[in-house]
Amino acid sequence: MSAARTRYSGPIKQAEVHPHSLIEQGFASDEALAAILDRYPAELFDINLYDYDEAGQVSLRTGARGRLNGEELLAAIQQGRLWVNLREVETGWPELWAAAMAEFRKVQGAYPGLRAVRNAGQLILSSPRARVPYHFDAAGVVLFHMRGRKRIFVYPGDEAHLAEADMEQVVSRQTTEELPYSLAFEADAQVMDLEPGQALTWPIYAPHRVENLDRFCISLSMDFQTWPSRFRNGALYTNAVLRSRGGQPRMTDRMTGPELAARWAASLALKRVGGLKSRIAHFERDFEPEIGAADGAGALRA
Ligand SMILES: [Fe+2]
Repeated sequence: MSAARTRYSGPIKQAEVHPHSLIEQGFASDEALAAILDRYPAELFDINLYDYDEAGQVSLRTGARGRLNGEELLAAIQQGRLWVNLREVETGWPELWAAAMAEFRKVQGAYPGLRAVRNAGQLILSSPRARVPYHFDAAGVVLFHMRGRKRIFVYPGDEAHLAEADMEQVVSRQTTEELPYSLAFEADAQVMDLEPGQALTWPIYAPHRVENLDRFCISLSMDFQTWPSRFRNGALYTNAVLRSRGGQPRMTDRMTGPELAARWAASLALKRVGGLKSRIAHFERDFEPEIGAADGAGALRA
């Protein structure tokens, strides 16, 4: 394992906790959540159920929004084993988003040189025993934790834990964000327990996974792009295209700033001509949330 937690230099050198005040502002109460679940657009829901084998390998079932009202859906999550993600908080819950952006600016201020150029948020409601598999986000992340307790495992973003060829597949949407994972990685994890009122950030691209600690959890996951992350993502995309054509592109961590910028510019042109078609299938749904059903997952209804 390398001493650095990431091979990509950036203002955030290790996982660190910051305070936030989103709970005091009332965004984590059952009443506020039931009300927002009632009016949140159905197409912005991801409902997942993760299972793991003894080697830590994950399998995924996906849920439809279903017809429970907000209060019932909340109860199904609290009793079940579901992971519910409300995308685009910036449009779905503008009041929370405005408050979260104010908190983000304070976190950003703690890192000289960190300048986000685009932010987006997902509100995550998850069951007491839900676990999120090993993955990375092609962005910076601040996880504002609002209810329950979570254990976050952050791993070094080096080639052994996060091969660039795998990153290319994710960035070019040839696969979902799950990465090759081995239990041996656990020896290299930085492990942190997150309490309500704490926000966690980590080095850009660092792979991570999450275990809820026996309580219903609410977090706002805010991701952000900087110009360096845009250049990096563009370079990874261009490398994915080159590799799909039989090339053996150089790793982006060996590239200079101008080279990365040139590869980013190339990625824009490649995307315009449809360089790589997304291979992420439109999931067939496996279940819909149901109070009292095993894991909170009931049968799909027509
Ligand atoms: Fe993540």
